[in-house]
Amino acid sequence: MSTNQSIKPLSTHINSLGHLEIGGCDLVSLAVKYGTPLYVLDEYTIRSICKDYKKSFSAYNNTRLMFASKSLCTVATSKIISDEGFGFDVVSAGEIYTVYKSGTDMSKVIFNGNNKSREELLLAINLGVGRISVDNFYELSLLNQIAEENNVEVDILLRITPGLECHTHEYIQTGHLDSKFGFDLSQIDNAVDIVIRECKNLKLHGLHAHLGSQIFEVSVYGDAIDIIISEMVRIQKKYGIILDEINIGGGLGVRYTETDNPPSTDQIADVIISRLNAAVSEYDINPPVLFIEPGRSIVSTSGVTLYTIGSSKQVPNGTKYVAVDGGMSDNPRPSMYQALYSAVIANKPDVLDALQNVTIAGRFCESGDVLIKNIALPNPSSGDILCVFNTGAYNYSMASNYNRVQKPAMVLVNNSQSDIIVLRETLDDLISHDAVPSRLV
Ligand SMILES: Cc1ncc(COP(=O)(O)O)c(C=O)c1O
Repeated sequence: MSTNQSIKPLSTHINSLGHLEIGGCDLVSLAVKYGTPLYVLDEYTIRSICKDYKKSFSAYNNTRLMFASKSLCTVATSKIISDEGFGFDVVSAGEIYTVYKSGTDMSKVIFNGNNKSREELLLAINLGVGRISVDNFYELSLLNQIAEENNVEVDILLRITPGLECHTHEYIQTGHLDSKFGFDLSQIDNAVDIVIRECKNLKLHGLHAHLGSQIFEVSVYGDAIDIIISEMVRIQKKYGIILDEINIGGGLGVRYTETDNPPSTDQIADVIISRLNAAVSEYDINPPVLFIEPGRSIVSTSGVTLYTIGSSKQVPNGTKYVAVDGGMSDNPRPSMYQALYSAVIANKPDVLDALQNVTIAGRFCESGDVLIKNIALPNPSSGDILCVFNTGAYNYSMASNYNRVQKPAMVLVNNSQSDIIVLRETLDDLISHDAVPSRLV
């Protein structure tokens, strides 16, 4: 089993008090010490999945593992993931700066995104970001202009849409993808032509694609490799340039609920490496450098969110709502795209009697602010600590201040030690960027 196939952080167990414990830390004590809502991250689980990836891809020497920062971006987590040997996929000045501040070697960073600004591109160049994945024609000329003005050569990939439409558990192949990202297959030649003729300050190394997220169907990676390598070989022949880098994006799924069955890192690596090796022999080319940039599968499993249960409401002959002190601002995924989660009550995780089917409601002023519909919990009562699993990815990174509620703190646990890695916002933090025109004072 690889780490992404576990619902809970790997160090989770029930301690002698009957409380849930992660990284040797009692979750009820963490809730008392740091308050709730609280993001808790298990360092051991993050390092384990990094090691899973490294082992699974060790059969292909030219692999470069990159972490997609969009799933979770803090200085401390970037340090851990960098320490495990990963580079980073970044998509904004904020992510570039955070990764830079973590002490990462910036040549191991790739800058993605469909509308990078002049300032962001300049920051990436100045901080020595290793690759820029150019998304569209506008960016080609903008980046070349910036590179020319600064008298530098910038190393690029071209982001393409290989025509594979990936849904969570299945995919279909389409001629064209109606996607806001990347060059359509029919536009690649035009883009390469422009790079060669007009972009003297850009050096093209290869092609980049991202197939989707929460992917359960590994064969889509093999099909994408076939398409991308055949395009690279065709372009090499047509334009007489060498393309020796392929970036296959991220996307490996995780296990949010018992019914999810994501593939292991071995399974995804087997497909990618075998299809890559087959393509290398078929076209008689040197093995290209392979970039893979997983996000969710690196951090999701390591994270849980602790909430305190407050009010509850029994709709006559209907739903029983149990409300917690967080919701859609710390985890927008259920309200945005009906994402499913698993949870237990941290102060009685193994109690199996008095189970009630309840719906976990958030505290925000939206009827859609529901974290989990219809979950069986043992007599959930005010003061209980709810632990929602698999919240390490796309929770904090997507959090907002809706209703002017402060974002939670984040705590890293390991070997019975807990450390704050993101401070809880204060009321003063919330108004710290407000300005009042002098005529109103
Ligand atoms: C270009 C790119 N790479 C990597 C990722 C990471 O995907 P995931 O978190 O599903 O692994 C994304 C996510 O949207 C992406 O857009």
